[in-house]
Amino acid sequence: MPRRWFSKNAAREGKGVRLARYISKCGILSRSRAGELIAAGKVQVNGKPVFDPEIRISPVLDNVEIDRQPIARRPPTYIALNKPTGVITTAHDPEGRPTVYGLLPPDSGWLIPVGRLDKDTSGLLLLTNDTAFADRVTSPTRKVPKTYLVKVQGKITDETVDRLQNGVAIDDDYVTLPAKVSIDRRNKGTAWLSVTIFEGKYRQVRRMCEAVDLHVQQLIRIRIGKLELGPLAKGSWRPLSEEEKAAVFAEKPGT
Ligand code: URA
Repeated sequence: MPRRWFSKNAAREGKGVRLARYISKCGILSRSRAGELIAAGKVQVNGKPVFDPEIRISPVLDNVEIDRQPIARRPPTYIALNKPTGVITTAHDPEGRPTVYGLLPPDSGWLIPVGRLDKDTSGLLLLTNDTAFADRVTSPTRKVPKTYLVKVQGKITDETVDRLQNGVAIDDDYVTLPAKVSIDRRNKGTAWLSVTIFEGKYRQVRRMCEAVDLHVQQLIRIRIGKLELGPLAKGSWRPLSEEEKAAVFAEKPGT
């Protein structure tokens, strides 16, 4: 399909970026919300209203405004949150349950969760306005390891551990990739496991445990790639350090 240029600047650069994508990259709005505002005629490029979210502009040379207000670019933001149980990973919940966004400062701007944790799972959740960073962590081809501490109830033997490690069917047509599993502690009828998976299917760890007749009582994510939850209090957040960000970008795929 031919490229739809808006500005001579973008055409001259031979590249440009799609307008809705550019606005979302500035960290103010999601791409779909930006598309709605563009379609409603509320976005101007170099003073003229535009209506097509797919046109290409030059982020360097073109002046983009919303309601005639220049876009204030937000700096790239990377946050580690210790998500408590009972809080959901979504921006708007029709049932009005507490969301992770209620735990962040009100001026944190548009941030997306980097992967999700289900309501009953706690631990490390990353949020960012840098979609390249999010893609890097969640892309299935990169196989970024995610480590969970899991308290399970049920009979756990070496064979159970082997089955979890080798891959179990969590769907009629899906067997999980090899994982790393160890028994950290045994109590009467329960055990704490460390489970590292290299993919991120919906409720994957719970479904893996169910597949080997283990009932999950607690699930905590403690690591994503080289990023550790560490001593962050439940419900608190902290910015990632420069070293942590660099480590995410340096990570080789397929570890
Ligand atoms: N596995 C689960 O079962 N739940 C999560 O939130 C993450 C991984």
